[in-house]
Amino acid sequence: MNIIDDLVQIVGRERASADKTVLYAYSRDVSLITGMPDYVVRPVSTEEVAKTVSLAAKHKIPIVPRGVGSGMEGGCVPVHGGIVLDMRNMDKILEIDTDNLIAVVEAGVTHANLNARLAEHSFFFAPDPASTDFCTIGGMIGTNASGMTCLKYGNTRNSVLGLEVVLPDGTVINTGSKTVKSVSGYDLTALFVGAEGTLGVVTKAILKILPRPKARATVAAYFDEVEKIGEAVVAIFASGIIPAACDILDRSGIKAVNQYKPEIALPEVDALLILNMEGSAAGVDEEVAEVVKCCRKVGAVDVKTAATKVEADALWAGRKAVASAIARLDAKKAGPNLADDYGVPLKRIPEMLREVRRIAEESGIQIVTYGHVGDGNLHTGMAVNVLDEEELERAKRAGDEILETALKLGGTASPEHGIGAAKIRWLKEEHKSSYPLMLAIKKEIDPQNIMNPGKMFEIS
Ligand code: MLT
Ligand code: ZN
Repeated sequence: MNIIDDLVQIVGRERASADKTVLYAYSRDVSLITGMPDYVVRPVSTEEVAKTVSLAAKHKIPIVPRGVGSGMEGGCVPVHGGIVLDMRNMDKILEIDTDNLIAVVEAGVTHANLNARLAEHSFFFAPDPASTDFCTIGGMIGTNASGMTCLKYGNTRNSVLGLEVVLPDGTVINTGSKTVKSVSGYDLTALFVGAEGTLGVVTKAILKILPRPKARATVAAYFDEVEKIGEAVVAIFASGIIPAACDILDRSGIKAVNQYKPEIALPEVDALLILNMEGSAAGVDEEVAEVVKCCRKVGAVDVKTAATKVEADALWAGRKAVASAIARLDAKKAGPNLADDYGVPLKRIPEMLREVRRIAEESGIQIVTYGHVGDGNLHTGMAVNVLDEEELERAKRAGDEILETALKLGGTASPEHGIGAAKIRWLKEEHKSSYPLMLAIKKEIDPQNIMNPGKMFEIS
């Protein structure tokens, strides 16, 4: 069998490759996971995807869908080799229908391009991951991506109304509809969103879009005890306000940012809470006043507000710089993703942060904590010399301890970045009673285990 000749037959010589230097570019993402593909295919149509998947099914070759490779858990890394489907050429925005609140796009459209086109109509696609400038809608659907605005607008799943999917045998199906509401049958759209390409290749999506809010304002509140952040957020919710963003930077993050970019000059407090409110101008003003009141009431040492974009960007600068700050904490150390993403119920956040501080102290690993406190989603950055085996092992143990703690507190091992290859153990650990059903669904839809094998499940 000569697979590359067959692939060339399907997509042409320009868009199929088995060249080692080309393959190498597809062998990693942002995690420590690596794996070389055997072939790369860059389809431009659903038909090409379907033919490629049929070929893979016939020869039992793994198929790994990929956007820009900005995932953080190895989700698009071909750990068992096979064919990587680079979806970036399927980048057409097929329909924008503001009257019906929908957009129809191909999987390779970037989030930034979609939102730029929607902005011309004063609309937007709400899920807002940190990789917004380059990530693809297909990648966002695969990982059920979210970000700062998840608290108010939900994650990607909440904004996907229907999909076109190529199943593992090459069959093309459509799920959902172009209506904002439907309760017709099992929600297969929801099943494929967040399936990380383990059930099929998403080629097109019907997305729910929203009118852009007319006004936005930012509040930053500084606290001398991290406990008070939990109290402030609870008070804000109780006052009837759901902020559009509600993020935290704890003292470890503040220190890292100040070391990396002294000009940002964050006050050296125990924790910083940063919030966005958006809606009508009058509504936002009212919410800002209420949020400031709540923060002061629980004992914020300082509260700042910003009404213009420039002022808001200045307040957000520390939070936005934190990931880069971690990678530069120490010239010899990188910032590998270990326990980079976990979540706990809001009220357990202070307890969780105390535990993370203890784990950092006991392990001797420098750990930086930040995240989306409003929806209980925390992130951990670690400064680790990945070439030092002992140190890397110690960091991995610290990461495991953090995830164990999150689960013990009733939380989740992956609120945002997915399972990929990095967190397979944790999927099982977290979903003890429902894991067998998840596995059964995977086996039913993909009996040959060719769709992104080695992700979410390790099936022998
Ligand atoms: C973020 O919140 O900044 C993203 O999830 C990415 C990260 O954890 O660095
Ligand atoms: Zn995040």
